[in-house]
Amino acid sequence: SKNLLGLKDLTADEIEYILNTAKTMKLILNSKNKKAPHLQGKSIVTLFYENSTRTRLSFELAAKYLSSSAANISAVGSSVAKGESLIDTAKTINMMGADVIILRHSMAGAPHLLAKNVDASVINAGDGMNEHPTQALLDIFTILDKKKTLKGLKVAIIGDIYHSRVARSNIWGMSKLGANVCVAGPSTLMPPEIEKTGVKVFTTVQEALIDADVVIALRIQKERQKSGLLPGIREYSRFFGLDEKRLKLAKKDAIILHPGPVNRGVELTTSVVDCDRSFINEQVTNGVAVRMALLYLLTRRDVN
Ligand code: CP
Repeated sequence: SKNLLGLKDLTADEIEYILNTAKTMKLILNSKNKKAPHLQGKSIVTLFYENSTRTRLSFELAAKYLSSSAANISAVGSSVAKGESLIDTAKTINMMGADVIILRHSMAGAPHLLAKNVDASVINAGDGMNEHPTQALLDIFTILDKKKTLKGLKVAIIGDIYHSRVARSNIWGMSKLGANVCVAGPSTLMPPEIEKTGVKVFTTVQEALIDADVVIALRIQKERQKSGLLPGIREYSRFFGLDEKRLKLAKKDAIILHPGPVNRGVELTTSVVDCDRSFINEQVTNGVAVRMALLYLLTRRDVN
């Protein structure tokens, strides 16, 4: 395929192939001279209609570490603010010679629409509440680095599942690789269709945490709540926030992940964010390696 639109569309073998390539990319990332020729002559553009720190910057750096040119365009400050449509914006970028367009958009399916309208490869950097495949790939990469396999692991995803494209991509990807994924969160933030995905749904955080190998905490997505917060931040934190006492229910060697940005003191206490079982910082580094791998594979057009 020329695009990466979601983990729903990928096989376990394809996911593993991307992650094996990312292992090689991490060696480049960790070397003294972070400059490899894999993307020489290529042009990468990030097109972001929503805020980002990690995803946008890691794509830009990934492109630069592999010798590509990289440019960014945001909805704010571009002709999008003058009413230009998504497709016309993308066609404009395409006509300037972009080989890869990386899109973040509030509308589910926006990257799929773009992929049909431009020659460039399209990578989904988060589409509404649908998928965030590169985040899930870096989460899986981090778990494999620590646990060697996902087969049979209990992965507990805790928090605002309803608004979380990260949860959806992780459920697709991790289930394909053999993990037993469960979710827990407030009933108001649990998508009705979740049971159909085959994951276990718990109403208390304690049930999800018992004997978990991996715990993924999620931020409550205030920006996607249209009519006030349900529950409020304090209630969310009290019932679904993770502190060291609660985490004792998980396995002794359980690892703690979070896609970021973290709201310290809400979904995770500061001591959990900074504890030695938390690999949130490593996730960020692994995100660059995974995105280097994707840019390389898509510009070679042999992900499938
Ligand atoms: N995890 C994630 O997507 O972070 P950003 O919003 O900072 O890109």
